[in-house]
Amino acid sequence: MTYLQEPPKLNESEILDSVQEYYGLKGTLHALAGDRDQNFLLKSPGGQKHVVKISSLDEAQDILEFETEMITRLSRDTNGLIPNIISATSGSSLITLQNEKGDDHWLRILEFLPGSLLAEINPRPDALLVNLGERMAELGSVLGAYPDHPPPRINFEWALGQAGNIMETSLSVLDSTQRALIELTLKDFLGNEREFLGLGSQIIHGDVNDHNVLVSRDKEGPVQISGIIDLGDAHSAPRVFDLAIAIAYGILGTADPLVSASRITQGYYATQPLLDIEVDVLMTLVCARLGQSVCIASLRRNHGDTNPYHLISETDAWKTLSLLSEIPRQVSTGTLRHACGLDACPQSAPLRTWLAGAEFEEVLTLPENSHASGILDLSISSPGLDGRDSDNAETFTRRVFERMQTDGLTLGIGRFMEPRGFYLADTFEGRPGDPREKRTIHLGIDLFQIAGTPIQAPLAGRVHSIRDNHNRLDYGPTVILEHSAPVGTFWTLYGHLEKASVENLNTGDSIDAGQAIARIGTYPENGDWPPHLHFQIIADLMAFEGDFPGVALPRDSDVWASFCPDPNLILGLPLETTYSEPQGLLERRNNILSPNLHLSYETPIHVVRGKGSHLFDTLGRSYLDCVNNVAHVGHEHPRVVDAAQRQIAVLNTNSRYLHSTIVDYAEQLSELFPEELSVCLFVNSGSEANELALRMAKAYTGGTGIAVLEGGYHGNTQGLIEVSHYKFTSSGGNGPPPWTHAALVPDEFRGRYRRDNPSRATRYAEDVGKAFRHLSSAGQQPAAFLSESLLSCAGQIEPPQGYLTAAYEHARASGALCIADEVQVGFGRLGSHMWGFETQGAIPDIVTLGKPMGNGHPIGAVVTTREIAEAFDNGMEFFSSFGGNPVSASIGLAVLDVLRDEKLQDNAATVGAIIRSELDTLMRAHSCVGDVRGRGLFLGIEFVDSSEALNPAPQTARYVVEYLKKRGILLSCDGPDHNVIKIKPPMSFSETDAETLISELNQVLVHDLVQSTDHIQSQN
Ligand SMILES: Cc1ncc(COP(=O)(O)O)c(C=O)c1O
Repeated sequence: MTYLQEPPKLNESEILDSVQEYYGLKGTLHALAGDRDQNFLLKSPGGQKHVVKISSLDEAQDILEFETEMITRLSRDTNGLIPNIISATSGSSLITLQNEKGDDHWLRILEFLPGSLLAEINPRPDALLVNLGERMAELGSVLGAYPDHPPPRINFEWALGQAGNIMETSLSVLDSTQRALIELTLKDFLGNEREFLGLGSQIIHGDVNDHNVLVSRDKEGPVQISGIIDLGDAHSAPRVFDLAIAIAYGILGTADPLVSASRITQGYYATQPLLDIEVDVLMTLVCARLGQSVCIASLRRNHGDTNPYHLISETDAWKTLSLLSEIPRQVSTGTLRHACGLDACPQSAPLRTWLAGAEFEEVLTLPENSHASGILDLSISSPGLDGRDSDNAETFTRRVFERMQTDGLTLGIGRFMEPRGFYLADTFEGRPGDPREKRTIHLGIDLFQIAGTPIQAPLAGRVHSIRDNHNRLDYGPTVILEHSAPVGTFWTLYGHLEKASVENLNTGDSIDAGQAIARIGTYPENGDWPPHLHFQIIADLMAFEGDFPGVALPRDSDVWASFCPDPNLILGLPLETTYSEPQGLLERRNNILSPNLHLSYETPIHVVRGKGSHLFDTLGRSYLDCVNNVAHVGHEHPRVVDAAQRQIAVLNTNSRYLHSTIVDYAEQLSELFPEELSVCLFVNSGSEANELALRMAKAYTGGTGIAVLEGGYHGNTQGLIEVSHYKFTSSGGNGPPPWTHAALVPDEFRGRYRRDNPSRATRYAEDVGKAFRHLSSAGQQPAAFLSESLLSCAGQIEPPQGYLTAAYEHARASGALCIADEVQVGFGRLGSHMWGFETQGAIPDIVTLGKPMGNGHPIGAVVTTREIAEAFDNGMEFFSSFGGNPVSASIGLAVLDVLRDEKLQDNAATVGAIIRSELDTLMRAHSCVGDVRGRGLFLGIEFVDSSEALNPAPQTARYVVEYLKKRGILLSCDGPDHNVIKIKPPMSFSETDAETLISELNQVLVHDLVQSTDHIQSQN
């Protein structure tokens, strides 16, 4: 067998001469990659393209003739999926050439198919992989219709049937880690070789690798497989070999190769069903192809080959092979079976049927009173849990058993398939591929009873294993029993046992139905959990010994549910012991809530818990929250939660009573402001705060005219929509009323005066003066200049230094008061200062506060001077029913305490600076990033279509936001052109969180759809 077959090296001018002589074609040659052939793209002056192929005369004529005939037929029968062969003027499709040395070569010319190589597509969308499977099935059935047995190839190392030989030969050139992996792959291949013989054979393509598959996009449609090239490896073999080869290369570089493999298989199966036996050998063949590929590369290198095309997939192939080898074969095959609509575990269905009809002894003595058994909600959203439960077994136990006591239960039941927050600990990390997921889905049923409760075998069996899985949060002492049923062997698992109770049990002991086998253990020896029995049925123990996964990744849950049938088939508890996902929420929401209350993301996220910088959905998938500035000190901060719970249990009433919390809060809040801003008024939202501020300004000045900024947003009331340029100019808006005038947004990147203009701050500020002159001339005497100190909805705009002081001077000179809307940026978010106006050295007359104040509890406030407050006290009482109530004030105080004690403003400065500098690097590296801006944890990334034109690229911003959501990063788009990604996370955002964000941004910014929207060549 040859491992180093150099393509011919014919002189280009000789080739061009022959092309003209035999085909009448002219043009220029552009080299294309090739393993055995010398390949070129021929571009004719008229724009026509062809592929020129030169094969060595070592290639047997009958093989090339067979190949040529097959290409012609395939091209016709696959509707152009395979490029056709072009006939020479003589009518022949295969020409013999001689070079100057007198060596003979073969010349063929093929149609050129437009498209990108699958190998270049980044990322490979699921739908494209499904489509690859569909096209493989079509190709397989067309090939299957031809007579089998083409002329055999000689020394053909790429035939998948040769994988065993190749792997065996290469062992001596591999290092020890590689050798171990290849030995494993080889053993699997040889162990299944007999199965392949039974699969029958037909002609197969033989090398559908990702450099032989073309992909294109029809206009704006999805990317699709548009061509399969290079039939040089066609030979006779089972049809499933082609699918396995397509999978082996189709999954390279994808986030989760197993999921990708299942997408390709799904597409194939839906088009052309496979036999069970074919699905069952697929994974062996996929691994064999990967092994064959890396071994050929190693052998070639060992022979001195440095041709990059020969070694092209090596690194990815090693990585993928090693990843797949870590997944139990039954699970990977089960995942493919599941994708075909089959039961992942073939033994499962008969076992379930048998279990459903059989009688069992009780595993625990059930309470006589049926009301004393009940379900414990241990799901992610359970109010009885705190999301940190597994950190402390003692408090967790207390909580569980107090709950049971309150509900009158002596048996608490934890459900099968329940997603659980206490499996978010690192111990429950699963296969990589979806960073949102940990193994949160419970595969057994938990029976909570006091420690020492005896456990009986529900049916006769044999002790398969007794092992102390002693790591913290593992099973602790665990017994697995083996049972023989008419449908085959199956197992039952008993976890979290008392150590002493299993000391007399031995592997191999026969166990009678109803025989006591162990007792419920307690923490820490039971794995450090509240006392309970974890009971699980196992249809296939695979190669596990003494242990078996009790939890699964959400994306694998259906597969594992097939391997682990519902334990209630044995327990027979008359309760709903299987967790089911809440259904129909979106429809209910759409039916009952106003249609213009939008949900974020194309597929909304059903979040049910928050913790620090993270949110969790119903499956326990975690999302790094990079955009929720309301959860200022971190989602569900325990000190804030505690303050709310304590105060609401004592008193919540309005501010017309004397109470210390409102006074304490006002005192502490006003200390954070310049001395003159010394009076506080409390409301419930940013909108209310701005409404109140405008009333005060009007009362103080007697005017009505309000100058605002373009892109500004100040709240949702009628009055505030009329001063929010962001709203009144967008769809549904009616433009400004006569009393509002918007000055230029001080945007240094895209605005009228940019960074190259040294007087941009004063020029923008002058526009505020101009706005008031406009208002006055229209009969609206100036009342207020209302502006966000740094603008959020306008696209995370930080005005140039000097702007705010100059703008305030213009406003005051016109007789207006200056209102700083700090609803978005206040409370230390900017890192350098507590308030946005301080970053510019300006002092407003009125400040409005909202969002972050209550960490999610609705609090808003106005802070102003005594003089303005007294002018507002004009006889009309100011009262807000809820503003400043004892619960709100306690929460507000707790937020200030945490902000101070956890030094969150400093954290915003440090972490914000890290992110900002990384974003600057990203901007230099990617032309689609036009600008990055902001400070602290208030940052923006503006996307453009190219660095020269700077046209807004909202589709790129949207793509990044949607894609990163699937990677567990929450961001959102804003700005008048919707092309700015906002970063404004909880202030507890850590350096690790920042690294995660940046690393994910780095990856998405090299995606095809971000780099250039026309990267994938269009069909037309
Ligand atoms: C700058 C600014 N001001 C005021 C508001 C209104 O606050 P609320 O939604 O609490 O009424 C918002 C809300 O997004 C805001 O961003």
